[in-house]
Amino acid sequence: ELIQGDGLLLLPAFVDLHAHLREPGQEYKEDIASGLAAAAAGGFAHVCAMPNTRPVNDTRSITEAMIARARAIGGPALHPIGAITMGQKGTELTEMADLKDAGAVGVSDDGRCVTSSSVMRRALEYAKTFDLTIIQHAEDHALTDGAQMHEGAISTRLGLRGWPRVAEDIIVARDVLLAEATGARYHVAHISSLGAVRILREAKARGIAVTAEVTPHHLTLTDAAVLGYDTACKVNPPLREQADVDALREALADGTIDAVATDHAPHSTLEKDCEFAEASPGLIGLELVVPVLLDLVRQGALPLGRLVDALTRAPARIARLEAPTIKAGARAELCLVDPNLSFVLDPARLRSKSKNTPFLGRQLTGRVKMTLASGRVVFVDGEGAAT
Ligand code: NCD
Ligand code: ZN
Ligand code: ZN
Repeated sequence: ELIQGDGLLLLPAFVDLHAHLREPGQEYKEDIASGLAAAAAGGFAHVCAMPNTRPVNDTRSITEAMIARARAIGGPALHPIGAITMGQKGTELTEMADLKDAGAVGVSDDGRCVTSSSVMRRALEYAKTFDLTIIQHAEDHALTDGAQMHEGAISTRLGLRGWPRVAEDIIVARDVLLAEATGARYHVAHISSLGAVRILREAKARGIAVTAEVTPHHLTLTDAAVLGYDTACKVNPPLREQADVDALREALADGTIDAVATDHAPHSTLEKDCEFAEASPGLIGLELVVPVLLDLVRQGALPLGRLVDALTRAPARIARLEAPTIKAGARAELCLVDPNLSFVLDPARLRSKSKNTPFLGRQLTGRVKMTLASGRVVFVDGEGAAT
């Protein structure tokens, strides 16, 4: 499945389990067209879209409208993730049968995080009926009220309210127990703490149906990046410490963490060029997976085959999609990567409408040259192969 030649890598195209495409409702940050263009440039053939749009994707009609919009564009396929509950802060469960029937590949509370233990238990029982995975943003709000970044020495130095690891660990532990009790499928979104990794490892050893994803930024950055009050590094869950990064890398390498997902969270310049406390959390990621993560492969922290699996087969399995593969006669879903091409990340080159990434201006190595999705070329790198 991995063909190397002339220095280029031919890989199956990627599947992102976690992107915020902002349409409907916040098209000034991103829309389906710009988000899918960014995805194509990043090597993706499939993008699962989070439901914290305006309005929230809690109904069949919104799910269908998003899919129709993406089909009209003709780039990577869009797979909506429905909301677990109705509206912005609802406790009433959505009609998951309708969402699934309309094409939703999971249900989530991401970006809203309103799920109490009782709602979560009912949601797991209900989702199980439709073979839908619950994709959960693990955060105990009682412990993160006003939090701006990871709680530790650096938050103390900066005088910013901290988001402790245990606020994530508690919810992951709770939801593992609820998944065990209900027999439903539970997926941990953007896992970030070493404690949550330990709980995940134990849960899998006990045969509980839990899976997890990790983002490129949690694999490569720590809370030290926030020094200087860099709002580009403000994100939920927060960037943590080296011990967490090490635990995440080890768990991704050994398969405890199943997938890499971007948590692509575009925000406008105005929403980031402000006081740290006012800045919107999140950073873009669709176009940066290859350059950021090939670094881990070069450092020997992650085998290339495991990275490719975490970007293709593993997320496809969780979303119940057919995984892109390279084989004769299959409809082409692949990308061509130059692992040695070095460049300085220029915001003007990004297809995303938003430019909120701490990697701007940084020297990166590794670039997607071409992407095919559903048998069509959806991206060709405009610049020549010369460095
Ligand atoms: C997400 C967003 O912007 O939608 N932001 C983020 O920092 N990950 C929502 C969220 O999970 O808080
Ligand atoms: Zn989240
Ligand atoms: Zn998210």
